[in-house]
Amino acid sequence: MSADLTTTWLGLKLAHPIMPGASPLVDDLDAVAALQEAGAPAIVMHSLFEEQIIREYEESERLMDAHSDTYIEARSYFPKRDLFPFGPEGYVEHVRRLRKELHIPLIASLNGASRGGWLDFGRALQDAGANALELNVYDLAADGTETSESIEDRVIQMVESLRRVVRIPFAVKLSPFYTSLVNFARQIETAGANGLVIFNRFYQPDIDVEALEVSPTLRLSDSSELPLRLRWLAILFPAVKIPIAVTGGVHDPVDAVKSVMCGASAVQIVSALLKNGPRRLGEIVKGFRAWLEDHDYKGVAQMKGSMSLLRCPDPKAVERSNYAHLLQTWRQGR
Ligand SMILES: Cc1cc2nc3c(=O)[nH]c(=O)nc-3n(C[C@H](O)[C@H](O)[C@H](O)COP(=O)(O)O)c2cc1C
Repeated sequence: MSADLTTTWLGLKLAHPIMPGASPLVDDLDAVAALQEAGAPAIVMHSLFEEQIIREYEESERLMDAHSDTYIEARSYFPKRDLFPFGPEGYVEHVRRLRKELHIPLIASLNGASRGGWLDFGRALQDAGANALELNVYDLAADGTETSESIEDRVIQMVESLRRVVRIPFAVKLSPFYTSLVNFARQIETAGANGLVIFNRFYQPDIDVEALEVSPTLRLSDSSELPLRLRWLAILFPAVKIPIAVTGGVHDPVDAVKSVMCGASAVQIVSALLKNGPRRLGEIVKGFRAWLEDHDYKGVAQMKGSMSLLRCPDPKAVERSNYAHLLQTWRQGR
């Protein structure tokens, strides 16, 4: 019997959970068409950055007032305009163009770290035809005067602001580096987000010891990055009502199976597509379907969350005792 792969993500009914995540692939119409052809059930656009929006509209006091001096100083390090394929207006135009070309849902993406007028831009993306949004809150907590609570509050205020300006659903894309992720995720849900995307990858700079320079590196992922996501999917799935998408380390059909078992409603892939091309998406979907059917699953709904902590009475004890057990087995094994 053919497995039912349908899933719902951000209120959008999708043919299956495996979709391309935010990346420059979607800047090119041919690549987008190839992704759709390969079976992508939705497309996530690369992000429009807060700094791009602010720079474009910096004459507007209304926008600038919402930003601190520190922020303005940080902005001066932001890459030059011509590094980006689109400015804000070009991005909106690209949303319009893609909306016309595609028959699958389109998810636009905003990327920023402070609350303020730049989030109003969400409405322009909505009006241009985006079916949903991602809000990527990529931020490095390097300011020693700021508490974790105020960092989290800022994100919550961003979510509340975006909720006020758009009626389309949106997800918040998070990093794993929050002290009490479950509590924070619940606050994000209460503030009006419709989904969570876990996790942002932080691109780690390396050090060139000869030149004494920091060398920025963009390394694509492999499957070893998935277990961090699986653990938090398993923990968050029973803790929030909004759906969760996984991003980071999904490279083959079994990675997708694990993600759904731990609670993912959607599975985003980027590195696998950048390494192997858009057709890889179709191969992963095919393998995913075959796995479910070989293992007699009726579909994604039956499998979703089956390996989450939903049935575990004391997740903390399991986490700690697993950890203690693991350390002991390694020593005995030697
Ligand atoms: C070249 C490149 C560009 C990316 N651009 C964005 C972006 O604009 N916005 C965003 O939210 N994530 C962006 N990402 C992150 C991906 O959406 C994804 O979260 C990350 O690559 C982890 O997934 P993966 O292991 O499948 O690559 C980018 C990743 C890469 C490799």
